[in-house]
Parts: sequence; structure tokens; C-alpha cells
Amino acid sequence: MAKIIQDINIAVKEILNGNIIALPTETVYGLAADALNRDAVMKIFKAKKRPSFNPLIVHLYEIGEMKKYVSEIPPAFIKLYKAFSPGPITFIMKKRNNIPDIVTAGLDTVAVRFPSHPIFREILRLSKRPLAAPSANMFGRISPTTADEVKKELNDKVKFILDGGKCSVGIESTVVDLTKNTPKVLRHGFITVEQIEKILKRKIESVGIKTSDKNKIISPGMLASHYSPVKPLLILRSKLPVNINNNDIFLSFKFHDTGFTFINLKLFAGFKEMAFNMFSLLRKADEMRSDFIIIQKAFNRGLGCAVNERLLKASYGEIYFGENNYKIIKKNI
Ligand code: TXA
Ligand code: MG
Repeated sequence: MAKIIQDINIAVKEILNGNIIALPTETVYGLAADALNRDAVMKIFKAKKRPSFNPLIVHLYEIGEMKKYVSEIPPAFIKLYKAFSPGPITFIMKKRNNIPDIVTAGLDTVAVRFPSHPIFREILRLSKRPLAAPSANMFGRISPTTADEVKKELNDKVKFILDGGKCSVGIESTVVDLTKNTPKVLRHGFITVEQIEKILKRKIESVGIKTSDKNKIISPGMLASHYSPVKPLLILRSKLPVNINNNDIFLSFKFHDTGFTFINLKLFAGFKEMAFNMFSLLRKADEMRSDFIIIQKAFNRGLGCAVNERLLKASYGEIYFGENNYKIIKKNI
């Protein structure tokens, strides 16, 4: 049974003893271990049932440490680091050999992030270790944004969950590949393509939101099915067959003997609020009594891209309601 704790020193001790620990970051909760300790990192993959081809992000306290692990530092990194770190952005760069292959899934690159959450930073500072940490969920499931959500996910898989309240961002970091001439966003996140372009004063590349072609997968985390609730999530492509009360986040209704729970994301004033609430709402909807969860996409710009990328990955397909029927179209993976 996982114990929710407040004591940072216990977390540091666990890390130094080669154990895994769930901890808060500003994006989502992570499951951390000493990145230089193969056996410790192995425990992360085991606990999450994560396939070994999916590399982990290495979290660092400050830029000075990075030179130990990264062999080439591109000029774009310095600009982006100054603008957005510590914070929700992850940089892919060429790695040095002291990062174990298990962390990077045998790639010659490493993902590096400088988290801003004060508790995580304190653990990095005290342990003096680079920490490998994926999101603290079972592989393919929604990332947790509270300690309680981690407990539901990993109760029998982890000894301690360090409580740092609800994550202020709510979705994972932006992953940007800096190993090519043109930087490329591999995973949309809180820091938007537009923000990165503004800092670099140039156009960059980014993955399309519909990454359903398996042949085109560059980053293993770009698998089209990810973040899934247990209940099928459907993207709404028509009007609902019932009226929405605009003050309610959830609308549960029956239509032709099928139960639906609609999540009214549009209720949130902006993308930041949507991102902050989205994963928790998907979890809550998953626990409600219905057959399907329905949601509408956000506008595909700015942070809306990150919201949509996650909704599409979590979804089973699309739904169209007619006067007397409905049609579900399975996502093309
Ligand atoms: O906000 C976050 O990034 C959270 C918190 C805990 O830091 N972490 C997180 O980790 O989302 P994870 O493991 O769930 O996602 C890491 C993503 C995956 O899509 C992985 O494939 C990609 O980063 N990645 C890691 N190393 C890579 C590399 N060398 N090249 C390309 N993609 C990489
Ligand atoms: Mg994850």
C-alpha cells in the first residue's frame, strides 16, 4: 500500500537507496529514480509496465550539471533555457555515455528537463542526482495531477507518494528536439510552438495533432493511443441530442439505451484552465455510470494544440448524433 507523505527527506533517502518514489512536478506527478542507477530505473519500467523502447526524461537541478550528460549544446537550447527553464519544457540533445541505455531506450539522445516545482527542485538539490521520471501512471493511462490520483494508479507499485498538492500546469511538458537544424516539437505541451518561435525568432517544426500513422512515429511517446480512460472516450463531431445546462461540467444522459457522460470543457475560460482540469475530469468521468465519455476538441491553436493532442490520443474514436440514432467511428491507428 502506497503511503502519502510530506517529508522530503524520506524521498531523498529512497532515491539514494536506489528506490522509486512518486513526486509532484509542476506538470503532472512523476515516478522518479536515480538516472545513473540502472537497477533503480528498471524499477520504474516494471512498476508502470512501460515498454523498454520508450525513453525517460532526465530531470536536473541546473544547467551546470547538464554538461556532464549532454555532448552537444545547441545555441537554441541556451535561448529556450533562459526563456522557459526551470519549467514545463523538455529538450532532446545528443547524450554522453554516462547516461545508461535503459534511460534513453538505446537512443543516442537524451531528454532533459529542469522542473520548477519547489519540492522536486529541493529533492534534486539535496540528492545531487539526475532523476529519471516519467508520469506516475500505468503505461497508456492518464497522467495523475494529485497525490490521491497517483495512489489510485500505483497503490501496490510504489512505497511512498510525496504530496505537493495539485499540479499547477496539469499536462505534461512540451518535448522539443534540438538535434536537427530546425527544432521540432515532438509533444505539444504547456509551452506552445508560438512561444518557442518567438524566442528563437524563426519557424520551427511540430508533429501534427493526428499522429495515427505508426510508420511516422519518431518519439515513442507519440503512439496514437495514450492517456486512455478505461471507458471509451469519444470526440463529439455533431450537436448533442440533449440540451446542455451551461453551468454543469458533466452532463450524463441516455440516448437509445446507451449512457453517455459529456465533459463540458468549453466551460473553462481559457486553455490554461482546460489543461489544468482536463486529466482530473477524464478520471472523474471514468468513474461515473455511463457507457461512453464524450468531449469536444479545443480550438487548434496555442495551448489548445496540447489539449487536443491528449484528447485525440486518449480517444477511442468520434461520435455523431442524428435525430434518432448515433454513429461511432473508431480511430484509425
Ligand atoms: O511533464 C513531463 O514531462 C512529465 C514530468 C514527470 O516531468 N514527464 C513525462 O514523462 O511526461 P513521460 O515518460 O510520460 O513522457 C516522456 C516523453 C515520451 O513521449 C518519450 O517518448 C519522450 O518524452 N522522450 C524521452 N526521451 C526521448 C528521446 N531521447 N528522444 C525522443 N523522445 C524522447
Ligand atoms: Mg506519460
